[in-house]
Formats: sequence, structure tokens, C-alpha cells
Amino acid sequence: MHKLKLTDVQKKYKDKEAVRKFNYTFTNGVYGLLGENGAGKTTLMRLICGVLKPTGGKIYCDDIEISYMGAEYRGLLGYLPQDFGYYGGFTAERFLRYMAALKALPAEYADSRIDELLDAVELKNMKKKKLKTFSGGMLRRIGIAQALLNDPEILILDEPTAGLDPKERVRFRNVISSLGEKRMVLLSTHIVSDIDYIADRILIMKNGELLLEGTEKGIMEKIKDYVWKCIVSQEEAEQIENNYIVSNMRNYGKNVELRIVSQKIPTKDAENVEGTLEDAYLYLSQIKGGERIATL
Ligand SMILES: Nc1ncnc2c1ncn2[C@@H]1O[C@H](COP(=O)(O)OP(=O)(O)O)[C@@H](O)[C@H]1O
Ligand SMILES: [Mg+2]
Repeated sequence: MHKLKLTDVQKKYKDKEAVRKFNYTFTNGVYGLLGENGAGKTTLMRLICGVLKPTGGKIYCDDIEISYMGAEYRGLLGYLPQDFGYYGGFTAERFLRYMAALKALPAEYADSRIDELLDAVELKNMKKKKLKTFSGGMLRRIGIAQALLNDPEILILDEPTAGLDPKERVRFRNVISSLGEKRMVLLSTHIVSDIDYIADRILIMKNGELLLEGTEKGIMEKIKDYVWKCIVSQEEAEQIENNYIVSNMRNYGKNVELRIVSQKIPTKDAENVEGTLEDAYLYLSQIKGGERIATL
């Protein structure tokens, strides 16, 4: 097991501080990095992979700075970039062989891994099929397979669930949870429901900062008793929307059913309901962002 420690990590692109004062220690398990577009997830992952150098702070693997570890550190890493490219004309098998060569892995070793990897990502029967015939989910899974070629102990997956349909999502979940058993897996997404149940710990990022981290249960505990449901007129709904965090809205004849996250009761007829990770994320990212704080 490895320990990856980030201390005060910062990345500035000219005037833009994409990652700021990031402090965290990762060990084994599945970590879900959640944040809206532009939050700094990709930048953070590229820093962890050593593709980018921090403009401040340090990243240590087992107490050694990663920039001093070089090839030894790269050998521990598997990375699926957000903009992962592939050649449609390659078969799954040929693609993995090609990626293994790029990673300077011995050909015999790669050959011996290919069947095992295709099996791990549930693509065994697609070995001889060209990538251009693959669905979005299959492409993501072959992307994960290439990241696993060197049997990495630290696996970084940037938006691996982008474009998956519900069935593919279930498959993906199974693949990830088995991978997290003996390595560190960090995956990013801007879609809350994509990390429900997958991640052992969730890190919420906003404007380059780590807002909050915890287990899903721990995060939900923070909003226990803050989630409300009520049915109001269109007029009232507009007013509530201006003053409260509304996590869902549904037309109900002439009226509107609102789901609200607030410490105090938003209307006298509002009923407490069970919260979701989505409610928690909206609430925590908005109050910590300093917005609407007066109403909470
Ligand atoms: N190469 C770059 N040059 C300048 N700004 C960048 C660059 N890459 C990312 N950014 C900016 O940094 C912020 C974080 O981006 P990114 O890490 O891609 O976030 P995310 O992956 O969460 O969407 C954004 O405001 C983005 O516009
Ligand atoms: Mg990104």
C-alpha cells in the first residue's frame, strides 16, 4: 500500500489559480473527486500524475517527493486522461499492445496481461473487434484497461463515467470496486450520481479548493434534517428559489413541488425528507462558496 500526500499544493496558470492549498493524504481504496466543470479536478490529477509541476506545495509518495522518484513513480501509476485518444482502426488487442509499447513494457509481459485485462473490464469477447465499433462505455473500459497495463498501485481516472448509459454505469461500478480492493483509485466526475456507492471517500472540490471530504454517510450526516419537500404556488416557488437552495422542482398541476435544502423550515407546510448526496453537494458547495449564506 502506498501513501500519497499532498501538502499545500497549488497550480497557477498565469493569473488563474486552478488548484489552491490542497492538503490531503490518499491510501488504498476508491476516492471520488467531485466538482463542477472548472473546479480544478483535471489539474489536480495531472499534478498527481507528474504531468504538471505544482507552482506551490509538495506531493510525496511514501514520504519521497514524486519529482525525485522519476521512473519508479511512473511505474506505480496508471492514468486515464479526460481527453483519452484512441485509433478507431485498431482492435482492442492491438490497441493494448500499442499502449504497452508506449509505456515501454516488455512485449511478452503485455501479451500475457491482455486477456486478463480485457476480462477485468468485461471486454473479453471484444478482443478482435475494432475500437470504432465500441460504445462510449466500452471505450471508457478499454481506457481503464490501458491504464492497468503496468498493474499500477495508483490508478487515476479522469471523468471515466462521461457518456455512459445506465447499464454501462453498473458495469463500470463493478469494475471499479474490484480494482479498489488492492490499490488506490482516484476518479473524478462532475455528476454526483456517478460516485454514489462507488467511492469509499468523497472529496468535494470547488474553485480549486478541497471544500470537504468524507464517507458518503458522513457527508449526508451533515445535512440530516435539512432536506424539505413542499408544494407551493408558482409565485411562492419563485420567491423560495431566490432565497433557498432548491435541489429539485417538479410541476404539479398549477402548483410546484420543491425540494429544498435549508437549516430552517422554508415554509410552514414543508416536510422533512431523507437527503441524497446530490442535496448535500448542492448545499455544501453553495454555503461554503459564501452564496446565499444569509438565508440558511
Ligand atoms: N492550460 C491552462 N491554461 C490556463 N487555464 C487553465 C488551463 N487548464 C485549465 N485551466 C483553468 O483552470 C481551471 C480548472 O480547470 P480544470 O482543472 O480543467 O477543471 P475541471 O477538470 O474540474 O473541469 C479552469 O478555470 C480552467 O479554465
Ligand atoms: Mg476536467
